[in-house]
Amino acid sequence: MKILSVCGSPRKGNSEAVLLRLKQLLEKKGAENEIILLREKKIERCTGCVEYCNKNLDCHKKDDMVKIFEKIRSADGYVFITPNYFKMPTGIFKDFIDRCSIFYTAQTNMSGKRAIVITVGADVEREIDVCLRNVTDNFCKTLGIPVVAKKSFRSKSELKGNYNDIFENGLNPDIEKQLEKMADELFKSLKK
Ligand SMILES: Cc1cc2nc3c(=O)[nH]c(=O)nc-3n(C[C@H](O)[C@H](O)[C@H](O)COP(=O)(O)O)c2cc1C
Repeated sequence: MKILSVCGSPRKGNSEAVLLRLKQLLEKKGAENEIILLREKKIERCTGCVEYCNKNLDCHKKDDMVKIFEKIRSADGYVFITPNYFKMPTGIFKDFIDRCSIFYTAQTNMSGKRAIVITVGADVEREIDVCLRNVTDNFCKTLGIPVVAKKSFRSKSELKGNYNDIFENGLNPDIEKQLEKMADELFKSLKK
């Protein structure tokens, strides 16, 4: 079972800490898990040249997305995580989303894949959920990827430079349990 995790934070922070913990949990169950840190990748912005992708069902930009497209195709499941920036995904995660439109254009059947979606933010969870819904309802649903678990986690790190406080500030006492549950849901849904 291959799980691909995609991290939308432009820094080494809470999102990455969550993905590292999930990686341990997924690997313990016997799954392969690769983490892609978008901030380390060269990903050009979608320039809307739809005549090309509509005709060729592919993107003509030859940057790091070429390999990422392949990894998306071959993975069974995904973990998508992005910080909440103004109730939206970060710019780099949005660039990733827009470039994934080739799966929509090519009508790629993603119905057998499964995803976990997580957002982190400084606000209360119901506010961060607006960003979460951007990813679940707008991105995953449009591409036809079923979401089996989703969660917003609160951090205190807004612009303060604490890079791992989602686990440490006491705001998420049950975070370990929640991550275990999400890893379970993903694993079970793919075993069926
Ligand atoms: C430009 C910017 C905008 C942000 N806007 C929001 C926001 O609207 N709501 C919120 O809850 N947190 C907001 N935050 C805080 C981040 O979501 C929060 O610090 C999060 O933990 C960052 O994730 P990371 O540690 O994985 O980078 C913002 C942070 C930045 C830098």
